[in-house]
Amino acid sequence: MSDQVNTPGRTGACAEALLVARGLRKAFSGKTVLDGADLVVPRGALVCVLGKSGTGKSVLLKCVAGVLRPDAGEICFDGRTLPAGEGPERAAFRRRCSYLFQSNALFDSLSTLENVMLPLEQTTTMRRREITERARAVLRVLELDEFRERFPSQLSGGMQKRLALARALVTRPELVLFDEPTAGLDPLRRNAVFSMITRYQVELGFTAVVVTHDLEEALVAADRVALLDEGCMRFAGTPAEFRASADASVRAFRDSVEDLRADVAANRAHQPSRRAPHEPLEILPK
Ligand SMILES: Nc1ncnc2c1ncn2[C@@H]1O[C@H](COP(=O)(O)OP(=O)(O)OP(=O)(O)O)[C@@H](O)[C@H]1O
Ligand SMILES: [Mg+2]
Repeated sequence: MSDQVNTPGRTGACAEALLVARGLRKAFSGKTVLDGADLVVPRGALVCVLGKSGTGKSVLLKCVAGVLRPDAGEICFDGRTLPAGEGPERAAFRRRCSYLFQSNALFDSLSTLENVMLPLEQTTTMRRREITERARAVLRVLELDEFRERFPSQLSGGMQKRLALARALVTRPELVLFDEPTAGLDPLRRNAVFSMITRYQVELGFTAVVVTHDLEEALVAADRVALLDEGCMRFAGTPAEFRASADASVRAFRDSVEDLRADVAANRAHQPSRRAPHEPLEILPK
């Protein structure tokens, strides 16, 4: 692993990075998902978290966001360790951090505009008119303003994803946690989302953690990438370091299309596949 994470007693990385998660552990009914995962997110950076389906990326993000409570480990935000339970520091963190759920978590009974207005109504004392203007400005950027009276069920999957993005960004958070913001989008919209995240980062100055399966886009857009595998970070470093890494987990993830190329060529040549027949493909969602 090329990234240095903070070790107990050292405060340097914690002070320099906006977010440092150390030794996160989480198990469900005795099944370990996170087994000492670390994550260092420098201020202003876009960090992409990669990893196989079901490996615990969403659980990691939920632990950071406070949606799930980790069994062990420490989360340090802006130089201060967050207490495990609820309290003023956790509430302050929530005001400074947005979390974009993988499932969007939109309110079906609220219109597009109302969905975006809600976080401002809940966390600020702004007047309704100001809130409406701010929400519509974000909707315009995301090409959704003309659909502001529609309900989420009347939007396409891609539009719903953009609406979730609008809602995450409208409070102008310092840290945004994106869980697969491009899932289900076509390649053009995928690029548009990454482009939008990087543009908004410059305009609004937020730090971003993006869980994604879009390897190529991640390696283009990210300042740093981290690979979660079997409960811990097998790699953390720059995209260039990821491309050059000889680590077996990185290679398996990064070069899977090369394996596919070899499989397809072997299949078409009616030769036995290099992959043993009993070996599971692990492409189906768990
Ligand atoms: N609330 C929960 N209760 C029990 N098990 C859970 C819970 N949340 C997640 N898990 C389990 O934790 C594991 C990791 O799930 P997680 O959703 O974090 O995977 P992921 O890496 O985000 O996968 P994907 O790429 O498909 O989104 C899975 O085995 C899942 O079933
Ligand atoms: Mg997930």
